[in-house]
Amino acid sequence: MTDRKGIILAGGSGTRLYPITHSLSKQLLPLYDKPMIYYPLSVLMLAGLREIAIITTPEDQDQFRRLLRDGSQWGMRFEYITQARPEGLAQAYILAEDFLGGAASTMVLGDNIFYGHDLPQLLKRAGSRPEGGTVFGYQVRDPERYGVVSFDREGTVLSIEEKPAKPRSNFAVTGIYVLDGSAPARARAVRPSERGELEITEVLTSYLSDGLLNVERMGRGFAWLDTGTHASLLDAGNFVRMIEERQNVKIGCPEEIAFSEGWIDEAALRTLSQLYLKTEYGQYLVRIADGG
Ligand code: G1P
Repeated sequence: MTDRKGIILAGGSGTRLYPITHSLSKQLLPLYDKPMIYYPLSVLMLAGLREIAIITTPEDQDQFRRLLRDGSQWGMRFEYITQARPEGLAQAYILAEDFLGGAASTMVLGDNIFYGHDLPQLLKRAGSRPEGGTVFGYQVRDPERYGVVSFDREGTVLSIEEKPAKPRSNFAVTGIYVLDGSAPARARAVRPSERGELEITEVLTSYLSDGLLNVERMGRGFAWLDTGTHASLLDAGNFVRMIEERQNVKIGCPEEIAFSEGWIDEAALRTLSQLYLKTEYGQYLVRIADGG
């Protein structure tokens, strides 16, 4: 079987964050000390994935390439795919079909920020299921803004609905989708919704009707942060700053993860640190290379 591959969906026009996203992709905005996309990228790296498709708008692709390059600097491989118009999350699977070549995938939305102790284990466990799909439910105050999953008393999934006016639960579906190789075919069968998008919820419903959807709850020990408004973007940045300053470690540092996974060696890490020596980020990389 081909290894599971990663997808980061970083398209979209970011209109809710105008004017800051007028000429800059939302997923490149700073979240405290790094570009936003470093965080979802780190999630895929922590899941052990080294081959990743990065889906962007045609206009923004060059900037993503300049930042992330071909991935080899971190012992990875990146492929860039354009999404001409923001026509829905499910479209990512159609666009990435050749890249996937039948492989299973884990997709993470480029503006979703996750933080939690057991995240690597959670993702690796979901990724080890040979068939079906796994998504994560997270309790929120405003479920009507998201895909919403409802359960019965035994925890069996009853429904998944996209932005329902009357949510049947407080559990939102987060932006991590751990799906098997049938995702592109399922996505091709989806018809555009009222808002003109191929909804990921339809792909999940297709898994659900086949009895192939697992929903795991992300408990209160996890943070799933919103970056959809100016205020929540600032709050998310402050959250990262608080954890990093308190513990004197970094969250979402690709160089560190690549080194700890053994994808790059110490010499490579030291070379990378030279790029940023004037910053605390660069000094942090030196510290990691020195043994923490
Ligand atoms: C999308 C999905 C939704 C999911 C959310 C997570 O919403 O359609 O099901 O809960 O991402 O961030 P959108 O960002 O398109 O509003």
